[in-house]
Amino acid sequence: MTAIDTEQLRTLMDMESQRNRPPSGFPSLPPVPSRRYSDPAFYEQEQQQVFRRSWLLAAHIDELPEPGSFLRWDIAEPPVVLVHASDGTIHALINRCSHRGAPVVMPATGSRPRLTCPYHGWSYAHDGELIAIASDRDFGAIDKANLGLPALRCERLGALIFVNFDSQAPSLEASLGSLIDEWAEFDLQNCRLSRRDRFTIKSNWKIAMEANMEVYHVPMVHRKTVAAALDANRNVNTFYPGGHGRMVAPIPQSHQGGAWKTSWPEIKSAGEIARTCTLSYNVFPNLVMPLNQYVVPPIQFWPNGTDECIVETWTLAPDWRNHRESGPDMWTENNGEKPSLVLREDIEMSEAIQKAMADTGERGIPLSYQEARIYYWHQWADALIGLDNIEPALRVADVIGNEWVHPNEPRLA
Ligand code: FES
Ligand SMILES: [Fe+2]
Repeated sequence: MTAIDTEQLRTLMDMESQRNRPPSGFPSLPPVPSRRYSDPAFYEQEQQQVFRRSWLLAAHIDELPEPGSFLRWDIAEPPVVLVHASDGTIHALINRCSHRGAPVVMPATGSRPRLTCPYHGWSYAHDGELIAIASDRDFGAIDKANLGLPALRCERLGALIFVNFDSQAPSLEASLGSLIDEWAEFDLQNCRLSRRDRFTIKSNWKIAMEANMEVYHVPMVHRKTVAAALDANRNVNTFYPGGHGRMVAPIPQSHQGGAWKTSWPEIKSAGEIARTCTLSYNVFPNLVMPLNQYVVPPIQFWPNGTDECIVETWTLAPDWRNHRESGPDMWTENNGEKPSLVLREDIEMSEAIQKAMADTGERGIPLSYQEARIYYWHQWADALIGLDNIEPALRVADVIGNEWVHPNEPRLA
């Protein structure tokens, strides 16, 4: 049932709890240049070379459930509209009319037999093909075949819809690699969308995201909330090809089956690790994917300038409607009024860091073995941007080699 190697993880947890230094042979991590969090040129490189070339989670099928339904997706530039075509395919189209650039779809969501531009009435099929021009007698010979809405790569993992701006990118399946097998037990095909919310954070997007890529901060920042529910000392980090990472930290016996969750229906096929540990993946570039037997609650971090970002929180869960009226909500209070307390603890810290980091100049950020998933992310970002394109003072050295990347496991050698 599960592709997560439970036995190996248990051994690694013991090893992590017993070691008094980083594992033998693990590279020491050079400081990460602070200006990677503030430099406008580096920000632009992230936008162009990282975000425009990676798979980005854009929607859940429940948001466009039937042929004809559409959903605007404006969080990544340029603006996109996702459309459910009659053959079941989801198309991701640039939402910009080929005539004079009006958004072809104005409402956030809805359903239409064809997409008709509200400016002069050009209309497009669900796959973006231009099918009719209003008063076309005035245009003379015009090549309709070349005036469709450009389509982006759009692929699905279960109910989740991903978009990639790069027509040459490897498939979503190839990009996620073995994560797909490890997630099979969570039945992503049948998880419904219970909530999706957005909140603004006054910090660089990586500062906010990186709080979700290590458990080192948990005993401090979350002392009064979740610290006791996670044995940070036994945490196991794993690196995956593609810049992805995973953490698994056991939940102490005293905190298993927390009462706040038990009224939610279960993902029956979820395995032992999901039921007894905090399990979370970071999916390159901007997605954090915790998974347990009750919910799959992705969190995404979207850059909005060098010093602001948007966190997008999702809760996916097995169909709850036989159990209670409102669906599970992992991340917000009062139906999206504000982020949950645990998330607010991280946001508060991220915003404080943003202010404090304003004048660190050339000083680098020293990262520990426990924070190495962060370093590994930066290595991958530089590989995508191309080292030669990055100002030398901002580069990150390639020190975490393939021998440390799944399925290799030198800690057990
Ligand atoms: S801008 Fe769309 S029809 Fe003119
Ligand atoms: Fe946190």
